Amino acid sequence: MHIYIIYKSLTGNTKKMAFEIKKGIEKAGGKAIITSNTSIVPQKGDLFFVGSGVYLNFLHPSIKKILFKNNWSGVKLALFSSCAFNSGAKHMRSIEKEMRKKGAIILGTLCLRTSGILRFFALGRLSRNLFRAPAFGEKITNRAFGKRVKISSKKTRIHGYLKQAL
Ligand SMILES: Cc1cc2nc3c(=O)[nH]c(=O)nc-3n(C[C@H](O)[C@H](O)[C@H](O)COP(=O)(O)O)c2cc1C
Repeated sequence: MHIYIIYKSLTGNTKKMAFEIKKGIEKAGGKAIITSNTSIVPQKGDLFFVGSGVYLNFLHPSIKKILFKNNWSGVKLALFSSCAFNSGAKHMRSIEKEMRKKGAIILGTLCLRTSGILRFFALGRLSRNLFRAPAFGEKITNRAFGKRVKISSKKTRIHGYLKQAL
């Protein structure tokens, strides 16, 4: 099973998420290829993390293209995004539904909201919530490998609520 993290990021937030997700994948024993190259063709059995910022209520056009122009049947897919408002997170949920219809095996979705006054000017930053990204990578990779996490302290950490453990 190959693991890919494909992202587009205009101001750097989603890129940060992508690299944090990679750390989580590695923690779960996986090895990921991280890239902004959206011409990769998904293959059955592979695990794809696909992420984008939300721009005027849409994903980056090339991310939309990789999602909607390919056959995702039997491909494990996890979506991630960063956005400034709730509407962005809502948009990701609708994408998730569409991808399920296209046959993708959706393993999870993570939307992080930017904070600070600058988010109203589309220049917000991810801060305290970024710790959820590696937890997401680890959780999804475990899921894809069919690994059950039994130790409860590990479970809690993977849930993403124990910053210091990362
Ligand atoms: C041109 C532009 C349009 C945006 N439109 C939206 C939007 O419609 N909804 C939203 O929640 N956030 C919106 N944002 C905020 C971004 O989604 C947010 O800052 C995100 O973290 C950007 O990701 P990036 O740093 O990876 O590019 C917009 C940002 C830009 C630059």
